[in-house]
Amino acid sequence: MFKVPPISADRLPTLLRAIPKAELHIHIEGSLEPELIFALAQRNGLTLQYPSVEALRAAYAFTNLQSFLDIYYAGASVLLHERDFYDMARAYLARAALDNVVHAEIFFDPQTHTARGVPIETVVNGLHRACEDARGTLGISASLILCFLRHLSEEEAFATLEQALPLQDKFIGVGLDSSEVGHPPEKFARVFARCRELGLHLVAHAGEEGPPAYIWSALDVLKVERIDHGVQALKDEALVRRLAQERIPLTVCPLSNQKLCVFPDLKDHNLRQLLDAGLCATVNSDDPAYFGGYINDNFTQVFAATGMTARHAYQLASNSFEASFASEADKRHWQHQLKEAFDRFVEHD
Ligand code: HPA
Ligand code: ZN
Repeated sequence: MFKVPPISADRLPTLLRAIPKAELHIHIEGSLEPELIFALAQRNGLTLQYPSVEALRAAYAFTNLQSFLDIYYAGASVLLHERDFYDMARAYLARAALDNVVHAEIFFDPQTHTARGVPIETVVNGLHRACEDARGTLGISASLILCFLRHLSEEEAFATLEQALPLQDKFIGVGLDSSEVGHPPEKFARVFARCRELGLHLVAHAGEEGPPAYIWSALDVLKVERIDHGVQALKDEALVRRLAQERIPLTVCPLSNQKLCVFPDLKDHNLRQLLDAGLCATVNSDDPAYFGGYINDNFTQVFAATGMTARHAYQLASNSFEASFASEADKRHWQHQLKEAFDRFVEHD
């Protein structure tokens, strides 16, 4: 066990920014900044519904998940060519590297693009090339997770999987996102069973707005390895025990939860309780261009709001490596880097 040194509250934001971390819950379409939306619209000869970057940003006032999704899908409509997908992912990876993200597992929503006539190869090849380039030029490792849209049917998910299979070496797993309530995990039982046979990693959004029952069925029916969000788990003691015992990771997104009104205020966020209950919780940005911050903003703001300490910081970063789908050798290397970052921080205190 690593003995976490005490660090004063005023030095905590600097520590949070400095430590190496993995980001495991980031929708690449949610990293499209308004400036890039306008630049891509212009490059592709498209007219947007908003007159300016400022007008678009002003529309980012959400009341729940659906109110966000409507505007998020509209923003993604400027993505047409492989270069557009590359530029979007490159911009995210460059930004993440500044936050000392050493590894990212990136969600993408192929159905948002194929529904508009964009071939899935265009989407996957552009994103994958950005991930490959980032290794050499930014020193960050990155892989892709294909998400099925849960407001669509399981047949449509199967059709998407079929289209994606020739590209299977370019993504490591599948997930489930979009409108949660009314679309329980079991709706996708067969397609997840098929993905499991194919050797893909499995994750699903559950317990963001939906009930603990959706977390149970993501685990028991879909057999996912991680739960995305999962903050509603604390309503169910038996579920908390299960998540703790099996060390099922939760990819928590504090600013997303605040902006989508999952919690009335960031100070009411339950991240600290999740950690103190022994769960493998992590911090992530979800859709940073829409929720007002990248991963380090999520760390610094939720720590300031809830009074977490250096011990929580160490646990969260360590959890992010433990919860990743990277090799055991990479995980050991990053855990070592994390301890070194703490040691260096104390020496220079
Ligand atoms: N929840 C569900 N679907 C999403 C999200 C989210 O937070 N972000 C992008 N798609
Ligand atoms: Zn999400």
